[in-house]
Amino acid sequence: MHQLQSKKIVLGITGGIAAYKSAELVRRLRDAGAEVRVVMSKGAQAFITPLTFQALSGHPVHTELLSPEAEAGMNHIELARWADLVIIAPATANCLSSLAQGRADDLLSTLCLATEAPLCIAPAMNQQMWQHAATQDNLHCLIDRGVRCFGPAQGFQACGEVGPGRMLEAAEIAQLCAEQFSPKILTGHHVVITAGPTREAIDPVRYISNHSSGKMGFALAQAAVDAGAEVTLISGPVQLVTPTGVKRINVDSAEAMHNAVQEHTSTASIFIGCAAVADYRPEQAASQKLKKDPNNAEQTMTLTLVRNPDIIASVASMQPKPFVVGFAAETQALEQHAKDKLTRKKLDMIIANDVSQTDIGFNSDHNTVTVYTPTQRIALDQNTKQALAKQLISLIHEQLTS
Ligand code: C5P
Repeated sequence: MHQLQSKKIVLGITGGIAAYKSAELVRRLRDAGAEVRVVMSKGAQAFITPLTFQALSGHPVHTELLSPEAEAGMNHIELARWADLVIIAPATANCLSSLAQGRADDLLSTLCLATEAPLCIAPAMNQQMWQHAATQDNLHCLIDRGVRCFGPAQGFQACGEVGPGRMLEAAEIAQLCAEQFSPKILTGHHVVITAGPTREAIDPVRYISNHSSGKMGFALAQAAVDAGAEVTLISGPVQLVTPTGVKRINVDSAEAMHNAVQEHTSTASIFIGCAAVADYRPEQAASQKLKKDPNNAEQTMTLTLVRNPDIIASVASMQPKPFVVGFAAETQALEQHAKDKLTRKKLDMIIANDVSQTDIGFNSDHNTVTVYTPTQRIALDQNTKQALAKQLISLIHEQLTS
């Protein structure tokens, strides 16, 4: 977290029970060398006192927009100019709504409008409130404007419910703040990433697909954009929020993914094939819904499948070609299959993961991978997909510059 040394951080705290974790966040940020000024909403002060944050930050806490003391000391404009980064943790549903509307009715919302510093939010709220369409619309609006969203995590909540809406831990938030100041190692690169499953239509209502969640591909898109790259994410059907700054193209079938890749990869310097592309599709998708045999005479049904294009192999055979990174999700003989794919598909790097383990890989938030290049084998420890994505982006950069 050396990136935080001498950085000026405004920590905004809004009214949620997770505000108690913000006390620890101040410690973490200061331990990493940052200067911290705290701004609290009225709601936040109902959960935890400004005195706590004054003691931890070493500075008076800012609470009022219109007060003689504020105008005499650091007012909202000065705070907005002073900040290298603004992080709001916890950010409540009300805070997201207020930011999305561009309100300026308290000190925090006003300084968020007045600052040129990057704005990050660590949401914390009841899982129903988080999933409500209004909150999600506000979130998307903020992300489209360049606001970085940290979390929230899934799990037990103070209200007794279980689901998404827990604020990330202080250490994770501090780490993510530090990463906002990381060197942009992929500046000037265009990275194209495929992610998620494909759906191969049988008829208008049925399809063949797989369990890919898209989480690894989206984490890679986030890590690549954080590293300064221009990122095009070509995604199969998944329920994930597009990372800030990423251009997302939604596709359904392998053929549609192939077409999108052909269209967008000519300017790419890096291609990462993270999608779980269906190898086969029904020869012909029926134009009407297929019906059961009404007499029950037919106990079996035969579908004829034909091969889909191998998207990554087609990219690896382009002239000139980008640096091509593939994934090998295997249930057995991992190393052998991965190395075989690396050679057969003419890849520059392959990331192998064992999908026979149910706690990691497909659909999980964690993974353990081994990276192969034509000359190297690099095993990465089990980690979150976000952390792995950052390591993989560094490895790709190393390979490009070695
Ligand atoms: O499916 P397979 O194990 O061969 O996938 C290995 C790599 O090839 C992955 O990176 C995957 O995204 C890519 N692939 C592809 N087009 C296919 C099949 C796989 O791009 N039709």
